[in-house]
Amino acid sequence: MSEETAASATPWIRIHEAGTRIGQSVEIRGWVTHRRSSGKIQFLVVRDGSGEMQCVAGVRDLSAGQWEASQALTQESAVVLRGTLKADARQVGGVELGIQSLEVISLAPEYPITPKEHGVDYLMDHRHLWLRSPRQQAILRIRAEIISAFRDFMNGEGFVLVDAPIFTPSACEGTTTLFETQYFDDKAYLTQSGQLYMEAAAMAFGRVYCLGPAFRAEKSKTRRHLIEFWMMEPEWAFATLPDVIALEERLLVATVARVLERRGEDLKVIERDTTRLARVQGPFPRIHYDDAVKMLHAAGIPFEYGNDFGAPDETELSNRYDTPIFVTHYPAAIKAFYMEPDPANPQLSLSCDCLAPEGYGEIVGGGQRMSSLDLLTQRIDQHGLPQSAFEWYKDLRRYGSVPHAGFGIGVERTLAWIAGLDHVRESIAFPRMLYRLTP
Ligand code: 4AD
Ligand code: MG
Repeated sequence: MSEETAASATPWIRIHEAGTRIGQSVEIRGWVTHRRSSGKIQFLVVRDGSGEMQCVAGVRDLSAGQWEASQALTQESAVVLRGTLKADARQVGGVELGIQSLEVISLAPEYPITPKEHGVDYLMDHRHLWLRSPRQQAILRIRAEIISAFRDFMNGEGFVLVDAPIFTPSACEGTTTLFETQYFDDKAYLTQSGQLYMEAAAMAFGRVYCLGPAFRAEKSKTRRHLIEFWMMEPEWAFATLPDVIALEERLLVATVARVLERRGEDLKVIERDTTRLARVQGPFPRIHYDDAVKMLHAAGIPFEYGNDFGAPDETELSNRYDTPIFVTHYPAAIKAFYMEPDPANPQLSLSCDCLAPEGYGEIVGGGQRMSSLDLLTQRIDQHGLPQSAFEWYKDLRRYGSVPHAGFGIGVERTLAWIAGLDHVRESIAFPRMLYRLTP
């Protein structure tokens, strides 16, 4: 075999598989994160998106030109390396590459993000580069795992994925957070929730879910609010409030277990205390709104019955438990127009929020949907919504109406809790926040 054929036969591998190929000649394509040189030996740490590996070249291992090029390598320069993998217990992954050839694909000028500390605003301004850091990659890998876990779980429960529209003619979650946009000669709004469409789809398929972005012009600048976030929304025909609560519980237990099982390395990178996650086993407490208010009062919190819980109230309630908790039967007046009244007390609704532990607060909202066409029509009026935009939705109560229920689970808030983040801004690649639309 000529030298050229031998070289081109070198397999391009990814760093995460290097440990299984000790002794083999391989090619690595990646970016330099650190370089240090001790005279006649060059140490490069290279990352390729699957992991990081130390790569070592002696002056005699490379051609004179390659050796010189290697001396000029800067942080985030792109390289293609070939060499032999050697076991080295001191290295991450227990492996090191002995470089035999080095090609510089691009040489980066001084990189704006260095190992020194940067402020959050600076990092957010450089989000397009910040994504390359090990911590940000670990968080976003956990995000991808959570989304896969959601889909696999719902598919396994017999729910059909139905995508909801992004342009909508009407509000689902109140008019104050609507994003208005031009739709040719009409007005349209970016979707706040796919729920109403899932209700229609549930009457076709029985069990459905959507998973996509939602948009809310939230004027709140908190650790929990994004302007654009992702939500999964199952809707289930012939189901009642207890059915969807049990479904949420199974979904959350399965999701946490899957992240623990498959993303252990990433959880280590972000230093998550996984003993807290290991305790996420059902059943989770179900607490009636009335009892939740009593618990707040007993804790000396001056909460007014009838109000919605604020972040400190949710923290007070959820901190008492190791698992997420369900708070049920919120007053109808503080919930959306489509909530079914509680037959035991029509002032309350068949609603449920799931609050995550460790102070993360609400991650899921849902409940049983309004069954009565007359009451639905009244509520649409009371909420100042145009009847005409809801005629199609009201058809669902005219033709084969059945009890049905569903929920929406926020991807970013679920990730923030599972990954132990102190702000949702790190839970999505390019966050849209009150004062941030770039990068
Ligand atoms: O409680 P919400 O507003 O419920 C709905 O939208 C229902 N239509 C869902 C349904 O029943 N199909 O939102 C559901 C979840 C919240 O619990 C939260 O996790 C997330 O969506 N969420 C947000 N996440 C980040 N930033 C925001 N501004 C969010 N608003 C809601
Ligand atoms: Mg809610």
